[in-house]
Amino acid sequence: MANEPREQWGTRLGFVLAAAGSAVGLGNIWRFPYVTGVEGGAAFLIIYIVCIVFIGYPMMVTEISMGRNTLRNPVGAFKALAPNTPWWLIGGLGVLTGFVILSYYSVIAGWSLSYIFKAAAGFPEGIDAADAMFGEHITGLGGPIGYHFVFMVLTAGIIAAGVVKGIQRVVKILMPLLAILLLLVVFRAVTLPGAGEGLAFMFAPDFSAVTPQTFLAAIGQAFFTLSLGMGAIITYGSYLSKKDEVPNSAVQIIGADTAIAVLAGIAIFPAVFALGFEPGAGPGLVFVTLPAVFAEMPAGTLFGFLFFVLLSIAALTSAISLLEVVVAYFVDEKGWPRKQAALVLGAVIFVVGIPPILGYSVWAEAGTFAGDLLDTYDFIADSVMLPFGGALTAFFAGHVWGIKNVSDEANEGAGNLRIGNWIAPFLKYVIPAGVLIVMLFGIYGVVTG
Ligand code: TRP
Repeated sequence: MANEPREQWGTRLGFVLAAAGSAVGLGNIWRFPYVTGVEGGAAFLIIYIVCIVFIGYPMMVTEISMGRNTLRNPVGAFKALAPNTPWWLIGGLGVLTGFVILSYYSVIAGWSLSYIFKAAAGFPEGIDAADAMFGEHITGLGGPIGYHFVFMVLTAGIIAAGVVKGIQRVVKILMPLLAILLLLVVFRAVTLPGAGEGLAFMFAPDFSAVTPQTFLAAIGQAFFTLSLGMGAIITYGSYLSKKDEVPNSAVQIIGADTAIAVLAGIAIFPAVFALGFEPGAGPGLVFVTLPAVFAEMPAGTLFGFLFFVLLSIAALTSAISLLEVVVAYFVDEKGWPRKQAALVLGAVIFVVGIPPILGYSVWAEAGTFAGDLLDTYDFIADSVMLPFGGALTAFFAGHVWGIKNVSDEANEGAGNLRIGNWIAPFLKYVIPAGVLIVMLFGIYGVVTG
């Protein structure tokens, strides 16, 4: 077993920045705007915020508390709370989910890295040219694999350096930088002539666009964007001191994540509308529509460059939390040295991420009902593994570990803001049942097309 004492965040701010860094990622800047675009703008935003408050907040508090109480990775946490039972399998599912998400997350982050250089060189004008540029990039081999490799090296390097010297040091610099870059891009977008239409799209609800699918999208997005349902927050919570406030930290993490998602929407939609493009472009919104927008906007080269730097930073601070889950498991449970774990597991995840890249070229036949290989990875992780893990974690906290233990742990060290009894019905019934039902409908919907 590892016999060094467990590391602790230097300050509560260190923890909040690290967890916010985990939460704020491609989910906020790439996924949230395009899902909002597809699901009808403000109507989706409202449903999403309800999910964040009633699912996200109780789950965030629960995961932090499970980590801080047990000082373990997800598998070890379930083992410590329910010894000699199979409940640890939920933690095992979480570690596996971390593997899968990081493998394709890094591929998309790699696209973002490459777009930093494409932006600096100036994007071509017109949506067709932007589309062709994206197609050419992702169907390549050396480019996408190379950037995926570079991104995994950065991620593994930070994790190898440790919780304080790696994760905390990096997020203290990158998170404020991210906020500044985003504000600059927002300022550019809202000062474009014609920006108002985009703001109306984000903030004036049209409920006719809401379908059952919208609720699934909102719940899935709530878990994904807050890094819930697979133990990332359990792991980060395991490095938190007993003196720190849990409920308050959860509010700050969720507040930062939501603010950044909404700001990303404000950065993107006004520009998209001002230049006459479509908001419902789907996953290509950031990689096709936006470059076309930057090509036409005044000072677009600079802002395009800043935007992709910011997207890459957001992805990096999330990726490190995914790798940390997997590494913490091998360090705590298998006694591996941290550096070795970071290196070996980073390499394995790099390899697992190669099929989604090949899915755009030599393995183009290999798709499933969910789409191409990357869509398939994303569907399995985001629409199946995360909601399933989240529902089981809530059930476990509500019925096995127990609400009293959750609140006692959450309220230890808490100041004015303490966790109330209202979370009990959510953890016990609403989240497990609601999430499972919505998940099954969602899977049914995708399978039957
Ligand atoms: N929250 C990140 C995002 O929005 C992604 C992420 C990081 C994640 N760690 C996670 C998602 C753990 C689910 C679980 O991009």
